[in-house]
This record gives sequence, C-alpha cells and structure tokens, in this order.
Amino acid sequence: MSIKVGINGYGTIGKRVADAVAKQKDMKLVGVTAHSYSFNTEVAKQKGYKIFTTDGDEDFKLNGINPDGNLKNLLEQVDIIVDATPRKIGKENIEKFYKQKKVKAIVQGGEKHEAIGTSFVAQCNYNEALNKEYARVVSCNTTGLCRTLNALNKFDITSVHATMIRRGADPWDIYHGPINAIVPVLEMPSHHGPDVQSVLPKCQIFTTALSVPSTLMHLHSVIADVRKKVNVDDVIGVLNNTTRVRVVRNAEHLRSTAEIMEFARDLGRLRGDMPEICVWKEAIGTVSNGYNKLLYMQAVHQESDVIPENVDCIRAMMGFKDSDKSIKMTNETFGIK
Ligand SMILES: NC(=O)c1ccc[n+]([C@@H]2O[C@H](COP(=O)([O-])OP(=O)(O)OC[C@H]3O[C@@H](n4cnc5c(N)ncnc54)[C@H](OP(=O)(O)O)[C@@H]3O)[C@@H](O)[C@H]2O)c1
Repeated sequence: MSIKVGINGYGTIGKRVADAVAKQKDMKLVGVTAHSYSFNTEVAKQKGYKIFTTDGDEDFKLNGINPDGNLKNLLEQVDIIVDATPRKIGKENIEKFYKQKKVKAIVQGGEKHEAIGTSFVAQCNYNEALNKEYARVVSCNTTGLCRTLNALNKFDITSVHATMIRRGADPWDIYHGPINAIVPVLEMPSHHGPDVQSVLPKCQIFTTALSVPSTLMHLHSVIADVRKKVNVDDVIGVLNNTTRVRVVRNAEHLRSTAEIMEFARDLGRLRGDMPEICVWKEAIGTVSNGYNKLLYMQAVHQESDVIPENVDCIRAMMGFKDSDKSIKMTNETFGIK
C-alpha cells in the first residue's frame, strides 16, 4: 500500500519535495497546499496536483483555479504531511493542525531541533526517525556538513572548524540580499555547529558564517583535526564511496559554484538541481606534521540537497526499516548515486 503524503507550503522546498514524492513507487502525492495564488499554483495545477488552500479560496477562484479543499481536508486524506512553510510556522502547525488530526509531520531546518526532538540526515541517523510522529529534516548547510563529516569520521575526527560562505538569497528571491556587501554572522559559533550536533552528537565542531552576493550555492571551507594519518587519495576514495556526495574536478572545468550549477542544468536535472554535495578534488588537503589535519571545500545547492532527505524521512517515520534500501530507492528517482 502506498504511503499517502501531503505537502504544506509549496515554495522552494515544498514544490521539490512534491515532485520527488510523486516519483516514488511506494508513495502517493495526495495534494499540496497553496497559501497565496502565484505561478507556483499554476504549475501545480498543470502537473495535475490537487490544491488545498490555507488562507481562503477567493484569490484562486478569481484566477481560474478551483481548489480541492483546505488544509484540514488534506490532513484527513494523508498518512504524513511534509511541512515546508517558512521558519517557525512548521512548529506552530504541529500544535494547531497536525496533532489534532493525528497526522505525522516532517518540518524543515527553519525549525529548532529542541522543538521537534528528532533531526534527520538519512545516511547519518535514519533509524532515529523510525516510526516517529514528528521529525525535522535539517537545513541545507547542516545536511552538507553532516554528509561529508559522517563519512570522513573514518579518520577519527577529533574536532572541526568550518566556515559557511552562504548565498545571499535563492535565485527567485527579490527581497533578500546582500547585493553589494559581505555580511558576517555576528554570533560565535554560528548556529550551524550546534545544529550538526543535533544529528552527529559526538562531533566537536565550531562554525562561523557569512553571506555573499550570490544566489547559486553555499560554499563550506572545512578544517578537521583527525587522529589517523590521512592522505588525499584516501579522502577522495572515501568521498567517492559516499552516497549523495560528488567529487568534482578542475579538469572538468568545475571550478566554481557557477560551473557546478551549469553542469547540473546540462545533466538535465529537474530545475537544474544538484542534490549531491560537491567536494572539489583539488581543494582537499592534508597535513601530517606532528598532528593530522584534513582540509576541504564543498559546495551545497541549498534548494535541493534536503529533498532526498525528506523522501527517506517519510519512509523512516512510516516504519520502513532498511535505510540503505530507502536511500537507494530515492537516489534512483533522482538519478544520483
Ligand atoms: N530555500 C532554502 O534554501 C532552504 C533550504 C533548506 C531548508 N529550508 C527550510 O525550508 C523551509 C521552507 O523554506 P523555503 O525556502 O521553501 O520557503 P519559501 O520558498 O518561502 O516557501 C514557503 C511556502 O510556504 C507558503 N506559506 C507561507 N505561510 C504559510 C502558511 N501559514 N501555511 C501554508 N503555507 C504557507 C508560502 O506561500 P506564500 O508565498 O503565499 O507566502 C510559500 O509558498 C524553511 O524552514 C527553511 O528554513 C530552506
């Protein structure tokens, strides 16, 4: 029997999760919500998705869309809802709607770990979400750090310092910036370090962050102290064998976030997405000089790396026990390894 899934919040993350769910053989996309009428609603209609309103029908009817009901009606038809509403609304929705309707819910990285209790990255802690009522798929940056640090812990990481160079806004976003500044996050550590520990509790990590005038991807510069002597080829070997991570090379002319995104478009990915974390081969370095250090840089496509995580989180919460099988099934539908 298919898992019946609804999406509440049909924006950057929600529309991508909806398309991913629609592709899974063991899931049925029951419908998506629409908060205000926009081109997103038009696309949902064209794709044949049922549309459930969260703030009245009037605007939709004026624009020729006849909604299939409201959020409460959607909740009555699903086993699980993926909430991809803006920050803080997901937690409120659990209290206001999901608990009342006894529907399982996934929220996103804009919510705080403490409010939900379970934070999720499939290849790190799939089992923690097994049969849970509520779980949180962590943010794009935290997902990126967790995927590579979890794999590279093979070399016994003792501590990590990482700097997040963050895109100022998503490509469609005309409201945020900066457009001509580099803006440091004025808190130490930035929230990313503690957030990584919500998935990898033993990871001693300290993070700093800044925003730059770019919309394409985030870039992380990571320095890890490791117990084991490590060389670059071993690191590349581990990353090449890590799911949802891609080693990219200067030889391919993948030297920047711009070229990586062009590559994703050329691969024919839906929306030109790159859900894999891209680590630059030539930006991997090691030091063995009385102490062992491992350095690397990675690019994170903020709009898409968390999408496969939402799909696996649905399976885990619905009691599907085989994490490797879930990751494989999800990856196949994205065309990733
Ligand atoms: N974008 C990223 O890079 C990214 C990456 C990873 C995680 N996340 C997290 O994912 C979550 C969603 O972010 P997003 O970037 O997808 O936001 P977004 O693009 O702004 O989309 C949010 C959607 O939710 C709708 N909405 C607003 N209030 C609502 C309500 N009360 N009920 C139902 N729908 C409502 C919005 O509709 P209107 O347009 O009508 O307001 C919009 O369609 C956040 O927790 C965020 O931190 C974002």
